[in-house]
Amino acid sequence: MPLKLIRNDITRVECDAIVNAANHTLLGGGGVDGAIHRAAGKKLLEECRTLNGCDTGEAKITKGYDLPCRYVIHTVGPIYTDGKHGEEQLLRNCYRNSLKLGLEHQCESMAFPLISAGAYGYPRTEALRIATDEITSFLSDHDMMVYLVIFDQKAFQISSHLYSDIQEYIDQNYAETHSDSISERRRRRNYAKEFISGSFFGRKKTEEKEWEENEAVFPPPLYSSESVESLEERLKVIDESFSEMLLRKIDESGMKDSECYKKANIDRKLFSKIRSNPSYKPSKPTVLAFAIALELPLPETEEMLMKAGFALSPSSKADIIVEYFIKNGNYDIFDINDALFAFDQPTLGV
Ligand code: APR
Repeated sequence: MPLKLIRNDITRVECDAIVNAANHTLLGGGGVDGAIHRAAGKKLLEECRTLNGCDTGEAKITKGYDLPCRYVIHTVGPIYTDGKHGEEQLLRNCYRNSLKLGLEHQCESMAFPLISAGAYGYPRTEALRIATDEITSFLSDHDMMVYLVIFDQKAFQISSHLYSDIQEYIDQNYAETHSDSISERRRRRNYAKEFISGSFFGRKKTEEKEWEENEAVFPPPLYSSESVESLEERLKVIDESFSEMLLRKIDESGMKDSECYKKANIDRKLFSKIRSNPSYKPSKPTVLAFAIALELPLPETEEMLMKAGFALSPSSKADIIVEYFIKNGNYDIFDINDALFAFDQPTLGV
């Protein structure tokens, strides 16, 4: 099941367990620690007093009391000095030990703050990468809904280089209002040509095909020869539904179903619905999540979207950001979601 980035106060998140970025004493403090103790009420402190503190990287569990969760899992993050004193491993241990405790207490959903990224001074981009890394590797073997709760936008940073690169791409390609203007037609034609010429993905060069001057749409979807053998096969493919195309692409990719839906950050229940219903109507973020998991080039991403009744739009920042990652060959859905979140856009998957 998926990892979801949300902007909220963790004390308001309804789930089985929320994680507290505590200190060694477990007797409360500032930041998220203070907020959790205030919202839980004094009984939380009374139970914490019985725990005899907690070492850095370790985790201990209490009840949730007045919070909208069954448990609070208290973990102590490392104080960041220079990254050369084992801080990364200790921070990883915080996530691992907290998730392990949640699993042992049959939690089906958990919420984490960005541990150590506040008073303990861990560089936020690094803290986010470690959190995402540890949670997603846990989720590759376990079914759990995990929220990474970002309290304030400034506490959330992707690398400034990536941010400015994406911003530049948006500036070049974002159309305030959706009009298939001359520049949009030219943009579509250019990357169609790039795609044909192979400059997009290092594909083998095919014969250059001149696009008519008034060609305003994406190139007809290119079916790689190994996937569609003959005319009737091709006709079948054109008539296939979204879920039929999805299942065909999963087969062609050689991935197991579970590998694909986890890579798409989609939960098992949703995938089963899609699998069992050939005419299932997915949301656009779900279609894009699968296109990313399958590492589809833009024309095939467009094809999959079209089968679900959608299209990439130049007046959607989220679409432009997804297009940026596909064009740059980065199909890591968690990188894409971090960028979407940083630009205040809906994330993919779930
Ligand atoms: N909900 C979600 N996240 C929050 C909240 C909240 N209510 N309040 C703060 N945060 C975020 C901060 O923006 C930061 O990104 O939690 C992250 C961790 O910040 P801290 O709470 O300062 O925790 P940490 O950096 O691990 O320092 C722990 O601070 O509060 C004391 O007792 C605590 O000594 C311990 C130290």
